[in-house]
Amino acid sequence: MKKELIYLDRNENHYGPAPAVFKALHKRNFKKLTTYSRDFTRGVKSRLSERLSQLLGIEEKQILLGYGAEDLLKQAVHCFLSTGETILVPQYSWWYYKVIADEVGGIRKTYPIREEEYQFKYDIDALVDAYRIHNPAMVLISTPNNPPGNSISLMDLVKVLEAMPEAIVVLDEAYTLFANPDTSYLKMLVERFPNVLITRTFSKFYALAGIRIGYALLGKQLSELNTFSARYLGYNRLSERLAIAALDSLEYYEDMRRKMLADIDMFFTELNQIPGFKAYRSETNFILCRIPENMKKPLDEYLRMHGFIIKFMNEDDLNSHIRITIGTQEENRQLMDLIKSFMEQTNYGELV
Ligand SMILES: Cc1ncc(COP(=O)(O)O)c(C=O)c1O
Repeated sequence: MKKELIYLDRNENHYGPAPAVFKALHKRNFKKLTTYSRDFTRGVKSRLSERLSQLLGIEEKQILLGYGAEDLLKQAVHCFLSTGETILVPQYSWWYYKVIADEVGGIRKTYPIREEEYQFKYDIDALVDAYRIHNPAMVLISTPNNPPGNSISLMDLVKVLEAMPEAIVVLDEAYTLFANPDTSYLKMLVERFPNVLITRTFSKFYALAGIRIGYALLGKQLSELNTFSARYLGYNRLSERLAIAALDSLEYYEDMRRKMLADIDMFFTELNQIPGFKAYRSETNFILCRIPENMKKPLDEYLRMHGFIIKFMNEDDLNSHIRITIGTQEENRQLMDLIKSFMEQTNYGELV
């Protein structure tokens, strides 16, 4: 039988969702699936937005649900960016931002990200300068950022938001929970900055990419998006219950988080011991590493032959890099050992 491939290329979470999620799935009264939810009778969109509101201390009407953060980012751009208006995005970032800006005929400008010795960093002064030069309608900040893995500190974020009152500032926080379980700052941000929009997802940390649920927190000036995104017949009743079961499983996810952080450190240390490799600090469930250009193809082939798929970057300034999604402890160990055995079995180590 052919061995199943292990995909560590799309930042999915191989630990899988908490046992309580499967329990909720099995317990479901499937009759409920034949009807729309009636959560609106309580004046809320969904029991999930209601639950998030209690959890985060943010008014329910400032919380939107969507078909993943992908959908919410697209909706925000379609709602707020008109043809010919500018959106500012990080120099290195998720390719999808470009696609949604293009969909509405937006003009995409980038702001620089600094490469320091073993990490990428947002350059706050350069970001604020870019805002002043380009006068954008929207600014996108991904924190932590994909693929470089860098974050913006809360202090810097506040500085940036204070400098950009005229734009809608979107924070893509798809990966935040891996490094920062604290959510208390979210309430402060949406109360203090009426122009901020924060997107989060159940896909990554909660390992629920398949149920397609994300949420957005809206600053008070952005209620137009509430109307734009209204779903009068409710949301996916199964997904919203599974997401709540995940929110209830703190212990499971905390244990997973500790294991992942340990493995990020393992990859960082061991990749950096390989001649010609340079791994960057990451605050996410993936790690970026520069490798010698001529190693891309043979390494890809070698790993595939042994059942592993990782991401070989192919972007303007990041084209000699791999991005490894952190899998389970066992997968991570196997992958790291395979990379080492590739180096031993070929003469690449001597060539760099
Ligand atoms: C930076 C970033 N934001 C958002 C998403 C979207 O996640 P989802 O639509 O599954 O919530 C991804 C997915 O890979 C991502 O890399």
